[in-house]
Amino acid sequence: PLPEPFRVPLPVPPVKRPVRRDATTDWYDIVQRRAEAEILPGVRTPILGYDGVFPGPTIESRRGRRTVVRHHNRTDVPTVVHLHGGHTPADHDGWPTDLVMPLSGTHSHSHSHHPGRITQGRRDYVYPLDQEAATLWYHDHRMDFTGPQVYRGLAGFHLVRDAVEEALPLPSGDREIPLMIADRAFASDGSLKYPAMDPAGHTAGPMDDWIEGVLGDVILVNGAPWPELEVVGARYRFRVLNASNARRYRLTLDPPPPGGPAFVQIGSDAGLLAAPVEHGNVDIAPAERFDLIVDFSGYRPGQVVTLRNGFGAGGTGQVMRFRVTRRVADESSVPARLAEVPPLVPPRDAPRRRFAFSRGRVGDRAGWVINGKPFDPSRVDATPRLGEIEIWRLSTDLHHPVHIHLSPFQVLSRNGHPPGAFDTGWKDTVDLRPAETVEVAVRFTDYRGHYLLHCHNLEHEDMAMMSTFETK
Ligand code: C2O
Ligand code: CU
Repeated sequence: PLPEPFRVPLPVPPVKRPVRRDATTDWYDIVQRRAEAEILPGVRTPILGYDGVFPGPTIESRRGRRTVVRHHNRTDVPTVVHLHGGHTPADHDGWPTDLVMPLSGTHSHSHSHHPGRITQGRRDYVYPLDQEAATLWYHDHRMDFTGPQVYRGLAGFHLVRDAVEEALPLPSGDREIPLMIADRAFASDGSLKYPAMDPAGHTAGPMDDWIEGVLGDVILVNGAPWPELEVVGARYRFRVLNASNARRYRLTLDPPPPGGPAFVQIGSDAGLLAAPVEHGNVDIAPAERFDLIVDFSGYRPGQVVTLRNGFGAGGTGQVMRFRVTRRVADESSVPARLAEVPPLVPPRDAPRRRFAFSRGRVGDRAGWVINGKPFDPSRVDATPRLGEIEIWRLSTDLHHPVHIHLSPFQVLSRNGHPPGAFDTGWKDTVDLRPAETVEVAVRFTDYRGHYLLHCHNLEHEDMAMMSTFETK
């Protein structure tokens, strides 16, 4: 039976302390391990967690301070860590076959036909983080098994802060909260129910019924089912991440705040917006982030406000609830100018590339392909030059959230029309709705190497909807 909604307080993931700091660098140690979590009240659920928790601990970095995260793999499976949204040298970007092998475990097989840089037991990921303040996240990216491994719990926040953001009078402290939304299904014994085609975990992909992506019937926020948060009657900053494998949400507030917009967006995937954008609802696809201000001052003390999902029904139609306690003086505000977001204006002769996302054959199975081809880590599909603005035309058959590694992009158009309400600012993931074509301007900088472009529906990703570009 599903738990009653709104009975569990919203957890906030712990902020990780560095094990060491020096003049340039913060050093962290994270142990990936199996653990049991109480996700449903009174029920023990086996998970894989960074430090044994889901979500993993939040890492907070300052722009330009190098962050080194030593990940120890004490799980039972090979792992790979990707810092999503990180401007990261290729060696540290979490290439899907750069496996960190578990020290013990039954998984002796590796992708010998696609050798990566395999390490035993641990690996240091080095992140320069010379990038604007933004809500990044880290998650597993193992070739063919990202879906099940993220589903088991391998995901956490990594925030980048900078002086531009700190100079703004935005809500902070207790009133700045990351919200990781993810749906899960549970078996009757309390375990997470991932419909893997091969429960032994040697073959990629979910069972045929789930080829569109794995959905759960319980909505978790920061690892708790439909939690409740007590709020004071003031502004809050919520860094919302959709960490679901495949589910999209249309977030609304019920009731909406009297006399104001439900949400004021101040940031997108890769940083602050130039100016705030008001929304009555926010549509968020897997891997997208929306940095949102909600002002509870218009509600009565004692009032409850539900964060709903207009794309769901019944249990999946609600996400969490806020309970407004008392009014307080609120010194925060949302300034009309937030940050410099220089538009990426492609020159007339900008290089153009096309990526078509569709169903296709992957070996002898049905899967998902880009430009007709399934992912092959030894094939390079594009070679953009560092520093040049390019126009990438992304088109689709069905619904695919497309993510580009290394550098953020800006949406130029959607189906030939101006960008949509949720396309503003620096993006690293853009939702392609059925039959849409989206053009983005992208400029890769700093690092040469092999990077990925892929669908962030994790089952599509595992079923080969990835492509490699090599920056030159
Ligand atoms: Cu969030 Cu290539 O992934
Ligand atoms: Cu997809």
